[in-house]
Amino acid sequence: MKNKIIVTGGCGYIGSHTVIELIDNNFEVVIIDDLSNSSKKTLDRIHQITGVKPIFVELDLKDASKTSMVFSEHKDAKAVIHFAASKAVGESVKNPLKYYKNNLYSLLNTLSAQIENGINNFIFSSSATVYGTPEVLPITEENKTQRPFSAYGNTKKIAEEILEDLINSNDSFSAISLRYFNPIGAHESGLIGELPSGIPNNLMPYITQTAVGLREKLMVYGNDYPTPDGTPIRDYIHVLDLANAHVIAVKRLLLQKQETALETFNLGTGKGFSVLDVIKSFEEVSGINLNYEIVERRPGDVPQLFASTDLAKLKLGWSANKTLNEMISSSWQWEKKLRDGNL
Ligand code: UD1
Repeated sequence: MKNKIIVTGGCGYIGSHTVIELIDNNFEVVIIDDLSNSSKKTLDRIHQITGVKPIFVELDLKDASKTSMVFSEHKDAKAVIHFAASKAVGESVKNPLKYYKNNLYSLLNTLSAQIENGINNFIFSSSATVYGTPEVLPITEENKTQRPFSAYGNTKKIAEEILEDLINSNDSFSAISLRYFNPIGAHESGLIGELPSGIPNNLMPYITQTAVGLREKLMVYGNDYPTPDGTPIRDYIHVLDLANAHVIAVKRLLLQKQETALETFNLGTGKGFSVLDVIKSFEEVSGINLNYEIVERRPGDVPQLFASTDLAKLKLGWSANKTLNEMISSSWQWEKKLRDGNL
């Protein structure tokens, strides 16, 4: 008998890569997704890659009674991985209530429905944004969290606090919160990858969309930061390395290996790269001269953020192993395939 895992947001960018990794590790997967920022086609691609079509339920997790019904149909599930959330930082600043409603109602309904049905393991898709502007780098999980700049970021911080309260009130419940740094890259098949709706906010999709001619030029937000080349430094991590960490975390919960009922891990590479490093690496792997211009800083950007990865290494036995060039090259293959109409 395969262990069944419910993956909310399983058609999305990180969700779909994790679903593939779960299937490859012999789990049965139930995807719940409202397709608000993803496509049903992803299910066919997952099928193409793994030979397995996961169970799919189209559902808006803001609907508490339907969520409860769906979870009662899958009460044999052993764990929930909760990716479903809106993630456009800029939009969340303009429309905070949409973000608080969507990300927090969905979280609360998921937690209530799973507990009602005796599913007591939970993995949360958190973000390094909960560290705000760090004073010490690399940043460890011990660092205090700060109120993030955006409503999106704040939903991640609040969600972690909700989990803390829940864990303290319920002896049977266990959770792992995974704080992602900057996920980029795509599956090596080029069949799935990041597909932001509208104009991308994040650096990598903006670069690849500029290179295929969809955007005129990349705006580099500031080169007067206190970093070696003046552009901000981030910890970019391959989405497949992230996916792999989720499977390790699920196994940890199922084998009851966790040391505390709520554990938190940074998921990054521990290496920082500047915006100009990323552009240079893109130009190297693609052979394209990228059209870009240095403009004003973007509000809310921190100069430097990169992870200490010691805890994940020590407790999960996990570390990221893909290089920046591998990440960028896979993002580029995906974008080209998508725009050539091969998908
Ligand atoms: C952002 C969010 C973070 C979220 C993450 C993943 C903020 C403050 N943080 O991280 O909460 O978890 O995305 O969705 O918004 N850049 C450019 N030009 C662009 C786009 C980006 O120069 O067109 C630069 C940014 O200034 C930054 C770096 O590239 O220095 C990375 O930006 P981005 O990919 O948006 O990620 P973060 O801002 O680190």
